[in-house]
Amino acid sequence: KVLIIDFGSQYTQLIARRVRELNIYSEIHPFNKIPTNVHDYKAVILSGSPMSVRSEKAFHPDLSEIRGKKPLLGVCYGAQYLAHFSGGQVAESNTREYGRANLSFVQENEPFLRGISAGSQVWMSHSDTIKQLPTGGKLLASTHDVENAAYKIEGETTFAIQFHPEVYHSTDGKQLLENFLVHIAGVNPDWTPNAFVEETVAELKEKLGNDKVVLGLSGGVDSSVAAMLLHKAIGKNLYCIFVNNGLLRKNEFSSVLQQYEGMGLNVKGVDASARFLEALAGESDPEKKRKAIGRVFIEVFDDEAHQIKDVTWLAQGTIYPDVIESVSATGGPSATIKSHHNVGGLPDFMKLKIVEPLKALFKDEVRRVGASMGMDKQLLGRHPFPGPGLAIRILGDITAEKVRILQEVDAIFIDGLRQWDLYDKVWQAGAILLPVNSVGVMGDERTYEKVVALRAVESTDGMTADWVDLPYKFLQKVSNDIINKVKGVNRVVYDISSKPPATIEWE
Ligand code: XMP
Repeated sequence: KVLIIDFGSQYTQLIARRVRELNIYSEIHPFNKIPTNVHDYKAVILSGSPMSVRSEKAFHPDLSEIRGKKPLLGVCYGAQYLAHFSGGQVAESNTREYGRANLSFVQENEPFLRGISAGSQVWMSHSDTIKQLPTGGKLLASTHDVENAAYKIEGETTFAIQFHPEVYHSTDGKQLLENFLVHIAGVNPDWTPNAFVEETVAELKEKLGNDKVVLGLSGGVDSSVAAMLLHKAIGKNLYCIFVNNGLLRKNEFSSVLQQYEGMGLNVKGVDASARFLEALAGESDPEKKRKAIGRVFIEVFDDEAHQIKDVTWLAQGTIYPDVIESVSATGGPSATIKSHHNVGGLPDFMKLKIVEPLKALFKDEVRRVGASMGMDKQLLGRHPFPGPGLAIRILGDITAEKVRILQEVDAIFIDGLRQWDLYDKVWQAGAILLPVNSVGVMGDERTYEKVVALRAVESTDGMTADWVDLPYKFLQKVSNDIINKVKGVNRVVYDISSKPPATIEWE
């Protein structure tokens, strides 16, 4: 495995992903918490940073266990770090070095640069520049503006590059990482989804033995893949609970439950719709709705878990982006926009040990692992759906009737996306029931009924998003179907806001 030491660059996660795309497992650790077992890592990469090495507060970890002992690659700040603190010189740059550049000099016969030639496009993003290489430094590549774009330190397997190989715009970036990791550091590129499944199942068997494990299924990708891995490892000792909070999509509870049973999972469906609706009655504040749903979920789940005799583990579908400890450049916490997500949702009164088989994976890797276990494509390709479900898509207070209306509208929209082959082109889609009535006319009758908004966005992680330019013909068809088929709705609008400044959900 490969260790990535994070100095807080916005691109650090990308380094991990690029390395993994080479079928090499990598882990990110913050510079101030470098693991003590560095010997278990085959190579080390230092990330970029918003910090300057010239600053008094420069991040300056002790690398004596790594430097000269392990193959080491410094990227951007990492490269400046290796220069500045080892006899080189880093100064403020007098030209702005952001964006595209091309290599103008490339050292020949250098294994690190195998397959890369002058002209290759690289992506720069820094305001300091390396004026003088460190002791033992040998220049390997330059661009027009940046003389010391790449260097190595003789007598060590230490390399450094000023540009970012991890971003897409560095066209030979992946080649460079492969040169370093596979050809120089000798790491075996054998980390594939199949290998992950085999390894994880073996580890889970060893760790869990004959213990019983309880897991909450949500119908989403993560909990489903986590369940499948555990099922392979411990079979019937995995007790899955799938709670219907009454706020799922139309027919979702029964169809997903059936699908889980078809996968051989030991799953209990619990219909607690009434309990949730009761807790939500009269509540229209979005955060209070979320809290009420969270609270009832824990109560229901706990009741169910208590019925499993001698259960000792709680499994969760936590994925890697939820657990990476980030290095904050400002030190301050970020503002809570919405009290999102169900991370850390273990109630005190359930003293269970936690097992998280997907903790090391990015979302796309979870999907690939699921596919390698033969899981249904449609299940793996599902759009994300928020835990509080339709409750945060019904603006204002919630009633059974409003849920029913929104389920009908949502089903027409989502089925339409599938029929028009648009579903997989959209990252997330849904309908929102607005708390306004508008005037319409049907036949000779005046109507005064609800307005619904449709929302479809493209995104990679939900952090930023843009609305999808769905074909007018499609919107026309869906709008007609909704107004004609769903009693109580007489107007459909399409949301054309990006995130930021809007969010994906309306509440
Ligand atoms: P926003 O609305 O913040 O949503 O742009 C970003 C992503 O998060 C989902 N979301 C939630 N998921 N509990 C969840 O499990 C929540 O309370 C919640 N609120 C928003 C949203 O669907 C989108 O994918």
